[in-house]
Amino acid sequence: MIALITGASSGIGEATARRLAREPGARLVLVARRADRLEALAAELGGDVLVLAEDLTDPGAGERIDAAVRERHGRLDLLVNNAGAGWRGAFADVGTANLRRTLELNLFAQAALTEALLPLLRESAPSAIVNVASTAGRVARAGSGGYSASKFAFIGWTDSLHLEERPNGVHVGLVNPGFVATEGFPQAELVEKATTRWMVSTPEKVAEAILQAGPGGKAERYAPRPYALAAAARILLPGFTRRVLGGGGASALATSTKVDAEP
Ligand SMILES: NC(=O)c1ccc[n+]([C@@H]2O[C@H](COP(=O)([O-])OP(=O)(O)OC[C@H]3O[C@@H](n4cnc5c(N)ncnc54)[C@H](OP(=O)(O)O)[C@@H]3O)[C@@H](O)[C@H]2O)c1
Repeated sequence: MIALITGASSGIGEATARRLAREPGARLVLVARRADRLEALAAELGGDVLVLAEDLTDPGAGERIDAAVRERHGRLDLLVNNAGAGWRGAFADVGTANLRRTLELNLFAQAALTEALLPLLRESAPSAIVNVASTAGRVARAGSGGYSASKFAFIGWTDSLHLEERPNGVHVGLVNPGFVATEGFPQAELVEKATTRWMVSTPEKVAEAILQAGPGGKAERYAPRPYALAAAARILLPGFTRRVLGGGGASALATSTKVDAEP
């Protein structure tokens, strides 16, 4: 299995690379901007690992990645669109500029890479794409409008792509993580308090869900699974959900995904 993971230099992407490396016959392609982190991971994993240091928002990144994968392997069995980030702030403060830069990375960069690799994925069918969105793509909280807008859009595009690519033998799976402590999303406010610590999961659990949504053929997975209840509540109990998110407990949740440093 030739598997390409974006955002493999930290967090969920790194955990997914480690997990996929344990699959028999797996040969990995690791993508992110920080070459040193990717090289260190590749050296640690050993075997046939291709490192491609790219900023996915750069025009032409997808085409360069496609050319490199074709040259090295001539096929691609799994694409994990995982790279992403969020920049917090109320809309009144951060405005459309924040919406644009977040959608640029969390939607358009993923779509551009997929567009470039789709012909190879079709040639390699049966193959799979896993899009790592978020529970924030189902339920929006104060201060993360740009992030939620990007993930709502990413999920809509994913659902459509799933239907379009099924006849071509390219399975498209969706993974919606809940709160997961990583470098980009430290979840510090939730982890610090005993009353909320239980809500925070690990990148390794999300990596398992990614395997299920890719080679495992599942269409959609929340990780951890109970986060699906939040998505259901937003549709079935919208008033209740707004009261919970707008109430006292909301301040901890609203600040919990603060991105401390811009990637
Ligand atoms: N952690 C959570 O609570 C959570 C919850 C729901 C969804 N998610 C989603 O899960 C995915 C992974 O997040 P994470 O928590 O693992 O965060 P993370 O540790 O910050 O990892 C993000 C990865 O994306 C890469 N990246 C960022 N901008 C990039 C760019 N322009 N070009 C190429 N790579 C880029 C980063 O690598 P470089 O900096 O080296 O480029 C890094 O490897 C994201 O899509 C995120 O939205 C996370």
